[in-house]
Amino acid sequence: MSIRAVGLLRYLPIDDPESLLDVTIEEPTPGDWDLAVKVEAVSVNPVDTKVRSPKDKVETTPRVLGWDAVGTVHGKGKLVGGFAVGDRVYYAGSILRPGCNAEVHLVDARIAAKAPVSLAPRDAAALPLTTLTAWEGLFDRMAIDPGGAHEGRSVLVIGGAGGVGSMVIQLAKQAKLRVIATASRPLTKAFAESLGADQIIDHTKGLRAGIEGLGLTDVDYVFDTQSTEAYWDAMADVVAPEGRVVGIVETKAPLSLEPFRAKSASFSWELMFTRSMTGRNMEAQGAILTRVAALVDERKIVSTRTETLGRIDAGTLRAAHARLESGKTHGKITLEGF
Ligand SMILES: NC(=O)c1ccc[n+]([C@@H]2O[C@H](COP(=O)([O-])OP(=O)(O)OC[C@H]3O[C@@H](n4cnc5c(N)ncnc54)[C@H](OP(=O)(O)O)[C@@H]3O)[C@@H](O)[C@H]2O)c1
Repeated sequence: MSIRAVGLLRYLPIDDPESLLDVTIEEPTPGDWDLAVKVEAVSVNPVDTKVRSPKDKVETTPRVLGWDAVGTVHGKGKLVGGFAVGDRVYYAGSILRPGCNAEVHLVDARIAAKAPVSLAPRDAAALPLTTLTAWEGLFDRMAIDPGGAHEGRSVLVIGGAGGVGSMVIQLAKQAKLRVIATASRPLTKAFAESLGADQIIDHTKGLRAGIEGLGLTDVDYVFDTQSTEAYWDAMADVVAPEGRVVGIVETKAPLSLEPFRAKSASFSWELMFTRSMTGRNMEAQGAILTRVAALVDERKIVSTRTETLGRIDAGTLRAAHARLESGKTHGKITLEGF
């Protein structure tokens, strides 16, 4: 059976009407570990625009993007437990598989979870990819205790109002950290504060100036959601001795760890796709999303959706990609329904 999807054949600038196309594809059949999900809402992330970015390659069949979905289970593989047909699920998926901008999508059940019951699909779709990145960065890579054992320690969130930053702020507050977030505009400052940031500094004026302006000499943790290269030396400068830094943005050139040596400070990468790409510890992502769904339903975490552009089609997805490429969005953009 054919289903509707949004895909690409050529990698074109987003103002080209052929950069994303409405297409029909064959409905996929679930493998042993898969859920077949009827997609209700999706979100967009910078990974979509990076994968779509202009290059000479041409696809022979439509390549479907999208790594943030909410939908209902309508089929499952024989090894899947814990999910029933009709369950509403949310997940980010795998970069090695076709994306979720399709009426029916397959996801390994181990990286999915039941969606928060208190959120509409358009609100829940904002969460999975950024939640997993924020959780893994804070609690798995920097080894902060989600239960609050590190209460009062400070974390600097670079890009506090962005998709990832807005989840880092909320999860760090749940872990009882002192959260200092960067924001450079009144809108992004207000958004970061509304999510629980204790203090805001303006990244355009430099991290050291911002930290000293708060009467601090350093911070225990730095979560950089924006540019590993641009902030490398500044992060080494403001992180405390024996502190920890996490980065999530790829670099174009090698970086020296030398600036971190005198402080015995650590740097970790966080790549949300590591678990699904390698098959190692995949269940951890289902468990994180289950814990966060409970926090949402207890009203401890809110959706970071700031906008829903309309139905899932090539036109609205092109508009969403264009907005993301501006670098000026705050929170998350979602799309709902086909
Ligand atoms: N490794 C992973 O698993 C992973 C996962 C998710 C995302 N990522 C990557 O992380 C990056 C951020 O993703 P996102 O979705 O959070 O981005 P986003 O939502 O597009 O971030 C937008 C925000 O970034 C802030 N910003 C822009 N330039 C900045 C700068 N130079 N310094 C500090 N803040 C700046 C802006 O705030 P102001 O207007 O206040 O300046 C804006 O609100 C992307 O490169 C993405 O590909 C990686």
